[in-house]
Amino acid sequence: AGVFTYDPGFTSTAACDSTITFIDGTEGILTHRGYQIGELAEKSHYLEVCYLLLYGELPSPAQLEEFESLVTNHTMLHEQMMNFFRGFRRDAHPMAVMVGVVGAMSAFYHDSTDINDPHQREVASIRLIAKMPTIAAMAYKYTIGQPFIYPRNDLDYASNFLRMCFAVPAEDYNVDPILSRAMDRIFTLHADHEQNASTSTVRLASSSGANPFACIAAGIACLWGPAHGGANQACLEMLKEIGTPDRIPEFIARAKDKDDPFRLMGFGHRVYKNFDPRATVMKQSADEVLELLGVENNPILQVAKELEKAALEDPYFSEKKLFPNVDFYSGIILEAMGFPTSMFTPIFALARTVGWISQWKEQLADPQLKIGRPRQLYQGSDIRSYTDIEKR
Ligand code: CMC
Repeated sequence: AGVFTYDPGFTSTAACDSTITFIDGTEGILTHRGYQIGELAEKSHYLEVCYLLLYGELPSPAQLEEFESLVTNHTMLHEQMMNFFRGFRRDAHPMAVMVGVVGAMSAFYHDSTDINDPHQREVASIRLIAKMPTIAAMAYKYTIGQPFIYPRNDLDYASNFLRMCFAVPAEDYNVDPILSRAMDRIFTLHADHEQNASTSTVRLASSSGANPFACIAAGIACLWGPAHGGANQACLEMLKEIGTPDRIPEFIARAKDKDDPFRLMGFGHRVYKNFDPRATVMKQSADEVLELLGVENNPILQVAKELEKAALEDPYFSEKKLFPNVDFYSGIILEAMGFPTSMFTPIFALARTVGWISQWKEQLADPQLKIGRPRQLYQGSDIRSYTDIEKR
């Protein structure tokens, strides 16, 4: 026996040292390598933020060019990998397909699985960041029965992803720069978020020395849940269920009722007890996209606007410091762009991949690295004698 600290949900346990991301939930501050998320969202872009997370500093123009070219040159999936997609049912959730296909990369790319070789670690990192949009887009195309659209290396990361999702063969497809910018922002705002559940899952899986692709597949599996990355899908589904603004009071009353397990999806956060700084930027982006697409008359988006207002004015939510979170606004943008709700969490997963990898690399370089092994407070029976079956 031993004396262990009981900390369900790890609300007060630091599991590692890290120099990547800082959050002050009371003040509503989020920084990556010291740069504030608001400034990065405004002045930088996703691949530059990826570089910053992975290597610790903003790149020089030459370093950025080299990094972008590396990522661009690894966007193709091996043709044989397509067989993995085809093994799934058409109505499979794209997150299930992603868990499977990314996990299957561990049985495929054998030249980037030796975690003790820095070069192989680097190749695994670049491969994952480069191929994740291709995998997410293919998971989507597969479920709607359209042919896969292969990546185009002359496009930027976000435009390439939008094209792989929305283009069909033999028809021109031009990405609107405002949509591409909004997509890039969604990626940037989701890039990393400290020791959240999926990142901790990746670290725990990797602490045993597991295969890098398998570790990232574990992260995807954890992200899928509605209390984590699945909240963006759950939020849009909730807005659809509400349907019309006059039903909002009923749902707010349910969220406040202690005997009803219902929660307002897209509200609240474990760490932010103030406005989530990512939500502030995402809200601006949502307004821009809605204006461009002229979808002010979309009833779901009207419900979203009214719900946001009603919850912000309700003392229950302000007293418990429950504000709309990043998933509330990203869901609205993705809905307006034409993504089905089942693609919301895969988009989160592809954006978060760089965070998982940066944390994975940091952990592997940590001289203090030990296998993650929580203890427990045992509440079961004392030692007792075995009863023979005929006497039970
Ligand atoms: N609607 C109504 N009440 C809520 C909500 C909500 N969305 N969130 C928390 N509460 C209440 C909760 O009932 C509890 O009340 P009381 O103290 O009276 O028992 C109090 O607020 C604290 O809640 P908690 O569950 O102890 O807080 P937590 O830090 O464990 O949970 C959370 C954080 C994000 C899981 C939770 O707020 C939630 O379930 N939100 C809805 C799902 C969601 O939007 N998740 C996305 C999170 S952000 C992105 C990500 O992490 O992927």
